[in-house]
Amino acid sequence: MAYNFITAEEAAAHIKNGDTLGLSGFTAPGNPKAILEAVAHKAAKEHEEGRPFKVNIFTGASTSDHVDGILSRNDAINMRAPYQNTPDLRKRINAHDTHYFDRHLSEMSQESRYGFYGDFDYAIIEAIDINEKGEILLGCGLGNIPTYARMAKKIFVELNSALPKSIYGMHDIYVPNDPPYRREIPIFHPNDRIGSPLLKVDPEKIVGIVKTHSLDGVKPFTEPDEISKQIGSNVVKFLLGEYRSGRIPKEFLPLQSGVGNVANAVLYDLGESPEIPPFMMYTEVIQDAVLELLKKGKCTFASTCSMTFSDHTEEQLFADLDFFHDKILMRTAEISNNPEVIRRLGVIAMNTALEADIFGNVNSTHVLGTKMMNGIGGSGDFTRNAYISIFSCPSVTKGGLISNIVPMVAHADHSEHSVDVIITDQGIADLRGKDPVQRAETIINNCAHPAYRPLLLDYLKMGKGGQTPHSLAAAFAFHTEFANSGDMRNTDFAKYY
Ligand code: COA
Repeated sequence: MAYNFITAEEAAAHIKNGDTLGLSGFTAPGNPKAILEAVAHKAAKEHEEGRPFKVNIFTGASTSDHVDGILSRNDAINMRAPYQNTPDLRKRINAHDTHYFDRHLSEMSQESRYGFYGDFDYAIIEAIDINEKGEILLGCGLGNIPTYARMAKKIFVELNSALPKSIYGMHDIYVPNDPPYRREIPIFHPNDRIGSPLLKVDPEKIVGIVKTHSLDGVKPFTEPDEISKQIGSNVVKFLLGEYRSGRIPKEFLPLQSGVGNVANAVLYDLGESPEIPPFMMYTEVIQDAVLELLKKGKCTFASTCSMTFSDHTEEQLFADLDFFHDKILMRTAEISNNPEVIRRLGVIAMNTALEADIFGNVNSTHVLGTKMMNGIGGSGDFTRNAYISIFSCPSVTKGGLISNIVPMVAHADHSEHSVDVIITDQGIADLRGKDPVQRAETIINNCAHPAYRPLLLDYLKMGKGGQTPHSLAAAFAFHTEFANSGDMRNTDFAKYY
């Protein structure tokens, strides 16, 4: 089959107001780099001429400035799901210019196939290579593209010559049957391969191929600050305690790690710990620290949905691909985050909270209860099904004006029934086997900042009985005080009685 090579502008000319686009990728890697920029320019022109122009964007997870950034600056997104982390889009979502539904990442593919989100007009796929049979070698992030490509009426391909063809073999593409025909997902070890190295699409659906040349543009991490290092060292202390006690088996268990500086600091610390044996990862994103662990042999294998490496690290990977080739496998989000597999493998989940409450509920998504930060991402997929589920965060934010340990979370993403351990720079609260009051005492004494401990203990004492002794009138006193005076430390519970 001979394909049409076209420009990004020619591709954008096909895309109409109201179209639904399913994109490849998961975080910046694997996302298209050119066509959505051209769509954003088209939107700007349409708006100038007084015509409405917005598209619906469904992805694997977050994207990059080539997608969410530029489209949002041009007010070109109507509906967005299942995750984002771009400041421009965040503003649009919180201003109600863009609709956003925040969904567990493992569910998006199957729910799209179930028909919950309507028709897909186009799939836009970043590829390293494509043959005449429609077999595509994907980029460095998979996301939900096998499902979007299957469902879309038409397909555009972006052929990125900055990525090496020798990556062939590092993808594992598998789409489960849907109920009532679903079978077990046959992954019994993090490195089990169950699918195909190539994505097969119907070549007749490919409208055109756009050539690009661009690395993924992920920024390198800044050196972790003292608080992140302290949290990282507390997480490692907790894991070592579990390992020494035999609650983690001697072979260790696969790790899932969230994104960001704390996650990076934890992984560096694990790499330095001589007592922790070499381990595998079963996770959705691997960042720079994981490549270092693979080099050292401390991490022996990483199953992921995306290689979210900074450009510098991505270049190191490509330069030494022979070494890394059999140590990293990229899966679709519905498999990297699959509840059945996570539970079977006994994955230890480590994610970050915005705030946690004294009874063990966690808010990962809504700043002060109302403003969307990023989204739940894969944190729920892993937390609910993990062998041990850990949440970490600094004890305070904004120089102490905000306590990240509060009487009641202002938005609940992960409930007390799923959260096993909370860790801050102050210490570790192991919540397993504790009732609500015991959990509260442990969290306040071990994790809250000393400036907030007396206030939180007062709140607990004021409780009006019941197994979970909340004082509902005062449950959001910290948040209310911050809205009034800008400092949660001024909270006066007496005002509420
Ligand atoms: N109240 C109000 N603001 C808060 C806050 C709180 N309790 N806690 C943090 N913030 C603010 C910070 O001050 C910072 O503000 P700034 O942008 O003005 O500096 C911002 O929120 C982000 O905080 P930071 O500590 O830098 O967050 P992070 O980079 O460690 O990310 C999450 C934390 C929770 C936002 C992030 O981990 C996330 O989006 N998680 C959900 C997705 C997920 O877990 N995915 C699974 C693994 S990939």
